[in-house]
Amino acid sequence: MGIDPIILAPEGWHAALAALEWQMDLGVTEITGEDPIDRYALPDTLKPTAKAPAAAPAVAVPLDAATTARAAAAAAPTLDALRAALTAFEMCELKRGAKNTVFADGNPAARVLILGEAPGRDEDLEGRPFVGRAGQLLDRMFAAIGLSRTSADPASALYITNVLPWRPPQNRDPTPEEIAMMRPFVERHIELVDPAVIVVMGNAACQCLLGKQGILRMRGQWAESLGRPVLPMTHPAYLLRTPAAKREAWADLLALKGRL
Ligand code: URA
Repeated sequence: MGIDPIILAPEGWHAALAALEWQMDLGVTEITGEDPIDRYALPDTLKPTAKAPAAAPAVAVPLDAATTARAAAAAAPTLDALRAALTAFEMCELKRGAKNTVFADGNPAARVLILGEAPGRDEDLEGRPFVGRAGQLLDRMFAAIGLSRTSADPASALYITNVLPWRPPQNRDPTPEEIAMMRPFVERHIELVDPAVIVVMGNAACQCLLGKQGILRMRGQWAESLGRPVLPMTHPAYLLRTPAAKREAWADLLALKGRL
């Protein structure tokens, strides 16, 4: 069968390629059907019948996703229950495109909790936060001040989680709506882990806990959220792109070490 060539502007071509890659990420393996489909034909059950009584108007119950999230999170008495509640939460579209719900990694008894942004491709595949290149840099950064996610000793341990547990398409930034929707889970997560100090890495984490962005201005400035000290730091993915910023990140790590 011949197919007419479609001429696309360069940006249209890139968008089409990105959309195709995203569908492949979702597991789509075929883009054509064997048989023609009449998409205008209604199934019999949907065809109007003369006898059918007029349907009662649907009652629109506006379900506020953040309210639902808050109730689900508040009802979780343990981290395992919170993980289950998060995995069962269906109101965030990102979940449909994700392979895994990425909950957390590290030692829940740690004094330091790191809040990142959202899983990337590696994290989505593995189901653990910060396992890709940015995660390897994060491990090296914190190892330099004696902290590790594999430590059994709470004094030298880390606990790591993200604002969003599902990978956004093409690793785009989380939207303010997504951050607000998932915030109740983050708050409950922090309550249950009960860390002495929180490190927020990047803008999404600042937005979630401190209600504002501007990480390049905010980094290194201690703040407070949920009754705990919060240290904003630049995200390791930014440090990979901007090695000159590592110097400031090192100063922030030393400030954290001093605080601990
Ligand atoms: N970046 C994040 O913010 N979190 C991850 O888990 C991975 C990359």
